[in-house]
Amino acid sequence: MDVISVIRTKRDRGELSDEQIDWVVDAYTRGEVADEQMSALAMAILLNGMNRTEIARWTAAMIASGERMDFSSLSRPTTDKHSTGGVGDKITLPLAPLVAACGAAVPQLSGRGLGHTGGTLDKLEAIPGWRALLSNEEMLSVLDGVGAVICAAGDGLAPADKKLYALRDVTGTVEAIPLIASSIMSKKIAEGTGALVLDVKAGSGAFMKTLEDARELASTMVGLGTDHGVKTVALLTDMSTPLGLTAGNALEVRESVEVLAGGGPADVVELTLALAREMLDAAGLKDADPAKALADGSAMDVWRRMIAAQGGDPDAPLPTAREQHVVTATASGVLTRLDAYDIGVAAWRLGAGRARKEDPVQAGAGVELHAKPGDTVTEGQPLLTLHTDTPDRFAYALDAVTDSYDIASPGTPFTATPVVRE
Ligand code: URA
Repeated sequence: MDVISVIRTKRDRGELSDEQIDWVVDAYTRGEVADEQMSALAMAILLNGMNRTEIARWTAAMIASGERMDFSSLSRPTTDKHSTGGVGDKITLPLAPLVAACGAAVPQLSGRGLGHTGGTLDKLEAIPGWRALLSNEEMLSVLDGVGAVICAAGDGLAPADKKLYALRDVTGTVEAIPLIASSIMSKKIAEGTGALVLDVKAGSGAFMKTLEDARELASTMVGLGTDHGVKTVALLTDMSTPLGLTAGNALEVRESVEVLAGGGPADVVELTLALAREMLDAAGLKDADPAKALADGSAMDVWRRMIAAQGGDPDAPLPTAREQHVVTATASGVLTRLDAYDIGVAAWRLGAGRARKEDPVQAGAGVELHAKPGDTVTEGQPLLTLHTDTPDRFAYALDAVTDSYDIASPGTPFTATPVVRE
């Protein structure tokens, strides 16, 4: 087999055979196919697509590139959630302990932020002492003892995806449905969860900008999960405006703890409960009551034990940024738009995200929102607070937020986009 013929097949809109797919994924993982050759193939896939048979085979080849985990020794049913990524999306933080408090085991392998979307591991690392890197044995022991674990995927899990995702990120080939679907599902299937709920986001702050594309991504992933014996369901959710009132690492941990304490922004609570119900349902725990577990403090108990089991101090004060800059409303009226992508870019430029994989992030950096679409605002009132340790970043972040919002004249009717769209 030679790589040029594989690239040419897809370049010329052909269908890749099983043998071509198995060979190219394996040879790339072993370093026999070079990055520039895989970049050309990824671009051909982005431009010309793949059919469901090709996507299924590509996913299977990525799973086969590494090890598979096994949770069959656990007494509780396993259920997991994966979001396709967004701005202010801290849902995993309250969700994993909440679902564990209702009787399931939640093996949440999570990632870091890259670009304008935040990463769960970067957020949790704002908690003093907390460790993302656990051995497989440690992970199983936290999962068994506490009921929930949030950690980085080990090097052995879908190594083809690790290499390919890093390559796609720097070659403009992230936004391809076959590549996103196989990337996410290869990790989740190799992880060995029994049930999986996908939070597929649509809107400016998501990879899928339209509901139609999000729907296609969701149905592709649900098909892959189901074919591998994982009970998989998907919610299509809104990402046109940030979730909650914060985007940034420690800022989002603080908001998540508010949700676990029974408060927090309404959209974060609504989505956390909607996903919890789907996860519990998929795990066969239909009678569990996640709203009760939030209200009676049992989800908070699991959170505290989960953080402590991974070396974190749940009582330690969270880091705050050294400098703040307030952006005020330029008019009075109804806030009709607050753009998720712009806020994500601002948080990233303030230091909450990284430009390159190896860059450190600032725990305290990010954006706090003082109003959400539908709110009435008055000229001069604070709209956003920008947080960073490095004030020379303010000008660059301000560029991103200048056109991030619209204010219509007072009394203009406003219809909010539902958090859960389908
Ligand atoms: N998340 C992933 O794990 N992979 C993608 O390709 C996109 C989002």
